[in-house]
Amino acid sequence: MTWDESIERVLIPRDELVARVGELADQISADYQGKEILLVGVLRGAVFFMADLARRLSVPCSLDFMAVSSYGSATDSSGVVRILKDLDTDIQGRHVLIVEDIVDSGLTLNYLMKSLSARRPASLEVCALLTKPARRRIHLHCRYIGFEIPDEFVVGYGLDLAERFRTLEYIGIPSSAAVAAVEDAEGSLL
Ligand code: PRP
Repeated sequence: MTWDESIERVLIPRDELVARVGELADQISADYQGKEILLVGVLRGAVFFMADLARRLSVPCSLDFMAVSSYGSATDSSGVVRILKDLDTDIQGRHVLIVEDIVDSGLTLNYLMKSLSARRPASLEVCALLTKPARRRIHLHCRYIGFEIPDEFVVGYGLDLAERFRTLEYIGIPSSAAVAAVEDAEGSLL
């Protein structure tokens, strides 16, 4: 099965992603005029979005990353988050912008925001490419949102199905055959 055959439907084509990332970068650049941003990417899904966003900003920025693991099933986080890789940067007094690929329940981001705000940044905001409002379990303020999407499992542009499909240039919905193949190979992950 090739990758494209595994995708049932394209939800957001590449040109729409490029255009929206450009709009977000323009908005962020205007809002942070005269300031330097520290972009904090949440591994691994955010890397493609963050790389494209960072290169479109017209204000200075530096990059750091966190890796977290949330307990629960593959599609339902429990809200208990463990930091696997912390920031290398001291964020006190910095303008921090967390970059996420997707906000689902919101529990991961809620934990991250609490953890980072305790380190006394000058400001702390969120830029998420995708959000699934139907799955939100906690109220969160995300200042920058790329797309609101329906409650469907999506892959591509950083998002994975058991580590597959991250490098697709668009956001798509995997076919039930592709999901079943992964389940057969790796047990019930979804
Ligand atoms: C995804 C996504 C967020 C989190 C959102 O990460 O990147 O970090 O889930 O879920 P929530 O809002 O329900 O907490 P994932 O655990 O799939 O890791 P990955 O980025 O390495 O694929």
